[in-house]
Amino acid sequence: MPEPLLEVRDLIKHFPIRRGLFGREAGQVRAVDGVSFDVRQGEVLGLVGESGCGKTTTGRCILRLIEPDSGTVRFDGRDITRLPRRELRPLRRQMQVIFQDPYSSLNPRLTVGSMLGEALAIHGLARGAKARTRVAELLDLVGLSPDHARRYPHEFSGGQRQRIGVARALAVEPRLIVADEPVSALDVSIQAQIVNLLQELQRKMGLTYLFVAHDLSVVEHISDRVAVMVLGRIVELAGAEALYRAPRHPYTLSLLSAIPVPDPERRRSRIVLKGDVPSPAHPPTGCHFHPRCPIARERCSREEPALREVAPGHVSACHFAEELAEPGVLTRAPAVASQAPPVPPG
Ligand SMILES: Nc1ncnc2c1ncn2[C@@H]1O[C@H](COP(=O)(O)OP(=O)(O)OP(=O)(O)O)[C@@H](O)[C@H]1O
Ligand code: SF4
Ligand SMILES: [Mg+2]
Repeated sequence: MPEPLLEVRDLIKHFPIRRGLFGREAGQVRAVDGVSFDVRQGEVLGLVGESGCGKTTTGRCILRLIEPDSGTVRFDGRDITRLPRRELRPLRRQMQVIFQDPYSSLNPRLTVGSMLGEALAIHGLARGAKARTRVAELLDLVGLSPDHARRYPHEFSGGQRQRIGVARALAVEPRLIVADEPVSALDVSIQAQIVNLLQELQRKMGLTYLFVAHDLSVVEHISDRVAVMVLGRIVELAGAEALYRAPRHPYTLSLLSAIPVPDPERRRSRIVLKGDVPSPAHPPTGCHFHPRCPIARERCSREEPALREVAPGHVSACHFAEELAEPGVLTRAPAVASQAPPVPPG
């Protein structure tokens, strides 16, 4: 098995909630609340969860765009959590990010060629004619034409802008890419094109991705393994095939049930969760998912479930993970879950 390129252990990041004229601290948002996982060399790890569960904060802590409160991040065997900025700089090149909104992450005053050229120059990779050749190569790599180097970001469509975002990340020859919802802002028709491009580049260049999405369907085909988050914690992590075929956490099951499946043999009953998403400023006691869980019991509000191995390489943080092997266990809990209306034929 390949070595981990990225090792995240017990990562915690809480944000203070400030109130009043003097900014008195009135509580804390527990954005990331003890997250651990590895991303192996050449692997794509999908990180999925609903809005506000802490995906972006996790990614930003890994890249040290924000400082975690505690926990460690090791990159290529080296603890980078407390590395001084100066020593972090050469590693920064190896860890790049692709943002959700390609437009706001591109400088509107620079042509694409100048922007990519600048990235190459800052890291001492190429200048002058050599840089121009490299820019043309990069544009070709992401499915744009060399002529596009003379244009400004506003002259491109959303999908093309995200291709530029990908070219900028690749310009500095990184090893790890944190892709933070890279297709969420794009039209559905364009999303698959960008995911396919990212997958092709990953294979061709042996890249490692942490691929963040709020929807399991986006990461299904690109991920080797998938981690699912609820309110600052990972609740399930497994190989993609096992997670989609035999999920062992009720939240993952509810996410999967929302994906339309054309094959009637594989179709699941829709599990509609009741109640609002609790605030990470006041997470529920015990299992963070218990107020919305279709099979929650008394123990769930009392005792926090540990992330434990339920099958080889498959971890789940649910006291009753084993029960989920039984088909239909969630949809038979009518007090909390409900079936979606039947899908009309055809
Ligand atoms: N700089 C900040 N100051 C205060 N609270 C923050 C800050 N950044 C994030 N948060 C809060 O931390 C929680 C996690 O936010 P985060 O952006 O990591 O979630 P996310 O999973 O990426 O959500 P989304 O799917 O909407 O992008 C949220 O409640 C958010 O409001
Ligand atoms: S521990 Fe309890 S509340 Fe949490 S997911 Fe499992 S059954 Fe549901
Ligand atoms: Mg986010």
